[in-house]
Amino acid sequence: MNRPAAMEKVGEPLTRDTSRIAARGAPEDITMSVIGIGRVGLPLALSFADAGVRVFGVDRNQEHVDVINSGVLPFIEHGAGPLLKDGLATGRFVASTDSAGSVSVSDVVVLTVGTPLNTDIRSDTSQLVAALAEIGPSLQPGTLVITRSTISPGTTDRVVIPTLERLSGLKVGEDLFVAFCPERIAEGKAVEELRELPEIIGGADSESGELAAGMFRLLNPEKQLHLTDPLSAELAKLYTNVYRYVNFALANEYALIAEHYERDAHHIIRMLRDGYQRAPIPLPGPAGGPCLSKDGYFLIEELTFPDFVLTAWKMNDSVPAHLVQRLRDALRQKEKDLDGLKVAVLGQAFKADIDDDRLSPARHVIEMLQKYGAVVVVHDPYLSDVELDTALRDAEAVVLATNHSVYYGLDMKRLKDLVAPGCVIVDAWSVFDPAQAETLDIELHTFGRG
Ligand SMILES: NC(=O)c1ccc[n+]([C@@H]2O[C@H](COP(=O)([O-])OP(=O)(O)OC[C@H]3O[C@@H](n4cnc5c(N)ncnc54)[C@H](O)[C@@H]3O)[C@@H](O)[C@H]2O)c1
Repeated sequence: MNRPAAMEKVGEPLTRDTSRIAARGAPEDITMSVIGIGRVGLPLALSFADAGVRVFGVDRNQEHVDVINSGVLPFIEHGAGPLLKDGLATGRFVASTDSAGSVSVSDVVVLTVGTPLNTDIRSDTSQLVAALAEIGPSLQPGTLVITRSTISPGTTDRVVIPTLERLSGLKVGEDLFVAFCPERIAEGKAVEELRELPEIIGGADSESGELAAGMFRLLNPEKQLHLTDPLSAELAKLYTNVYRYVNFALANEYALIAEHYERDAHHIIRMLRDGYQRAPIPLPGPAGGPCLSKDGYFLIEELTFPDFVLTAWKMNDSVPAHLVQRLRDALRQKEKDLDGLKVAVLGQAFKADIDDDRLSPARHVIEMLQKYGAVVVVHDPYLSDVELDTALRDAEAVVLATNHSVYYGLDMKRLKDLVAPGCVIVDAWSVFDPAQAETLDIELHTFGRG
């Protein structure tokens, strides 16, 4: 058997009791493989290792595995660094590229591979299908397989279960257990939220659901658990994100309305929601990222009637173009255009204080500016080595595209001293104080403020 190199460190496979494999013993008796140790899989794997489970973090990317096995966290995830060091030191966690070897000795297998959109803007299940093909033949009787990746409605019943049954020769509900348990953490807060957030457990049958629930109880015995069927769990996950995304779109549309009426959407929304419980309205700002941007498409994949998820997507997706347009309008007033102009873009990540720029609205802004010929210098404390002063020095325009905390402390006087005279600032997040900008005679355009 082709085993992961460090397998001996964590002991031999368990002797199985076919039906209650994961729930039967102490965490130390359970072996788990987490397939795909990216932003979701790695913190999950480390959290289970921290709970005592012996975990193989499996990834097809050898370089990524080597980095992790050297004790280095490959991305920002608060609290995960010490868990990685501890997991490696105790041998409760090891990363590996060997999915077959890891799965063949595992009681629980968790799938956390990527499920992006393909170029036809449909759910791309190729990583999931490949992972199922790799693990299926190695599954042992009694194994629990949990899908954690975000999937479109019906994928557990139509893809996961038939593929695993065919490749393993096992039968779900008899000697194979399957659940869809969606991940709902926010990047950067995974370690904390894996303990705190309620779990939605979509068991293929009641025993699968119970076994999966038992696993998540290991992360926190008090964890709130909702047991349901896989399709309901798939729909619940997608609706969680789509609800937020549509609300962000509404806030962004409201920003345009406020601009039209030459009023400040931030001021109005803060005022209207203060003390008024029935209006948890978000503030405007570019919305995107690898989850929110795509999950709506998953949800409406089979819809035959009009929907407003796409309208929301169009609204959110148009915010970068609107920001660039505002900048162009302001420059036109000064008889300038973007061609050859130095523009400092502050922030490239898709949200504040994270190092992930997948499907980031800020990147969209950068690409559009470049298309118009601007010389763009990006500052992002999490993604680029460019110093803030270097980005700002002699810039004729500044676009604050991501609301990283560091920008809230930015001294506007210093900013003014660095940028070119007459510099125009476009602030997508209402980070800068308009009154201070006025005092310093800085031309500031805030998204949502007309
Ligand atoms: N990032 C988030 O905040 C978040 C939150 C909730 C849900 N999700 C969902 O979780 C899933 C994973 O997202 P992510 O952000 O962690 O993606 P990611 O790209 O960071 O990680 C996926 C990992 O899987 C690995 N992989 C792909 N195919 C593999 C295979 N066959 N065998 C082994 N490894 C394989 C990749 O190399 C990669 O490291 C997606 O479905 C995503 O929609 C993400």
